[in-house]
Amino acid sequence: MGALHLKVNGDELDVAAPSHWTLLEVLRYRLGLTGSKQGCDKGDCGACTVLLDGKPVLSCLTLAAMIEHRAVTTIEGLMPAHIANGGTGADPIQDCFDRCGALQCGFCQSGMMLSARALLDRVEQPTPEQVREALSGNLCRCTGYTQIFQAIELALADRAGTKPAPRAWEAPRDTEAAPRQA
Ligand code: FES
Ligand code: FES
Repeated sequence: MGALHLKVNGDELDVAAPSHWTLLEVLRYRLGLTGSKQGCDKGDCGACTVLLDGKPVLSCLTLAAMIEHRAVTTIEGLMPAHIANGGTGADPIQDCFDRCGALQCGFCQSGMMLSARALLDRVEQPTPEQVREALSGNLCRCTGYTQIFQAIELALADRAGTKPAPRAWEAPRDTEAAPRQA
């Protein structure tokens, strides 16, 4: 067992792990970063998606020893990176997933959000086809995808400074429910 030199969420780390371990195994079982999910563990579901130098990769198919010194971003690092760049609160993608209720069990969500973040970092205003292509490797068994795409649509509208038309899927924030009529 040797020491791996990894850069995860901005931290330089020396991690003792077997040389055959995947990045996903190191993240979950050495670093305690369990936001990256171990779904199929064979490249089918996308639940283990992390960013490597800003690009989405399947950490279950990535040998940790092969990515030493390269920048890994997991879901745990998304909000700190946003704040370090001058933002406040959660990353806009996380915020919009929250506002749109774009999850049920949540198992797919970290991979979905990281794939979306990589797309929005690369393309200022992606088309719906580009959004679908970017998320095509992330499977969701619960939501039917509609609210996930709506969350990304909302993040794009926020970034463009446009106000999307009110839709049933965007829950009002910080407002009290109207009293029921008798
Ligand atoms: S756990 Fe990696 S693709 Fe499914
Ligand atoms: S919310 Fe359950 S798998 Fe996507």
